[in-house]
Amino acid sequence: MAHVGTGTSGRGVGVGLIGAGRIGASHAGLLATRVPGARLVAVADPRPGAAEALAAPLGARAAAGVDDLLADPDVEAVVITASTEAHADLVVAAAAAGKGVFCEKPAGMDLADVERGIAATDAAGVVFQVGFNRRFDRSFAAARAQVEAGAIGVPQLLRSVTRDPGLADPTRVPPWAVFRLTLIHDFDTLLWMNPGARPVSVYAVADALVAPGFRDAGLLDTAVVTIRFDNGAIATAEASFSAAYGYDVRGEVFGSAGMLTIGTTASTSVVRHDATGSHAATVRSDVELFGDAYTAELAEFAAAVRGGRAPAVGGRDAHRALAVAMACIESVRTGGPVAPAESP
Ligand SMILES: NC(=O)c1ccc[n+]([C@@H]2O[C@H](COP(=O)([O-])OP(=O)(O)OC[C@H]3O[C@@H](n4cnc5c(N)ncnc54)[C@H](O)[C@@H]3O)[C@@H](O)[C@H]2O)c1
Repeated sequence: MAHVGTGTSGRGVGVGLIGAGRIGASHAGLLATRVPGARLVAVADPRPGAAEALAAPLGARAAAGVDDLLADPDVEAVVITASTEAHADLVVAAAAAGKGVFCEKPAGMDLADVERGIAATDAAGVVFQVGFNRRFDRSFAAARAQVEAGAIGVPQLLRSVTRDPGLADPTRVPPWAVFRLTLIHDFDTLLWMNPGARPVSVYAVADALVAPGFRDAGLLDTAVVTIRFDNGAIATAEASFSAAYGYDVRGEVFGSAGMLTIGTTASTSVVRHDATGSHAATVRSDVELFGDAYTAELAEFAAAVRGGRAPAVGGRDAHRALAVAMACIESVRTGGPVAPAESP
């Protein structure tokens, strides 16, 4: 494909960051200091003072707004870390401006949103990468390589777990976030760990066990999902918004010739043994666990933009994972199994 927005200079790809919230602050810091092949040029956020506060210490400029950022010729590519509801429109606008696009997950609130993003980036011939950072985690990537090499035979049972460290403000959680924002990582991981297979049936059970007072407002914070694949494999994904011990992301692939386990709750390999027992510190946040993976995914983005090539994980992967999430929503509503929509 003919890519534009690839830039011509030998310097790192000039990146504009859209959305100076929690993950935006982390990604901006990485882009400014750690990501090879990238440089942070500008930051935009409509929240008063947010872009300035993030950009200035990192040596970037605070754009007057998204239009101003997209009009900047020094911005070759954008990293979208805005609130989820804004993702699809921002992807389309950035593509129309000829910028390479990295969008945090999910790439839209529904499948039509993601299809708009795919169409816009295809039409513009620009890179479209989505923030499925687990693919860039060393342990998950090593496990996937072993699955591909046939080291555990044919995958039969797969498992993925995400437990967030806490539910800070339930009023700010978007609808169906447990599927669309949280478990979407697990869905992408499970699809990726079962190469070539298609999910054919999804069944989800969810409840509000962390914040029961918000159940009637539609906030479900605890869920278990089963996924049946067309190669016969069966997967489960589970999530909670509040693990007392920290941030817990683990996976497992069980096959005809063995099993792979991925992830640990320990933040280091140090265990203190004393009179009260054995103690290990646990991982406390996504930024702590996945700092290296976030750096690697942004490096892949810069390389794809500079190289004018498709990134390792793109809009179609975003569609496939969101199709499972949307099937979960339908499953909870109907109480039965649901076939996920076909993906492009
Ligand atoms: N991959 C991961 O591990 C990971 C982790 C956390 C969050 N995320 C994703 O990143 C996104 C942001 O999450 P967060 O926790 O940082 O949220 P946040 O609420 O802390 O920040 C969102 C920011 O976006 C800004 N914003 C809203 N609309 C905008 C627009 N139209 N243009 C520019 N800025 C806009 C808000 O003012 C806010 O500063 C979410 O979609 C979330 O799913 C991904």
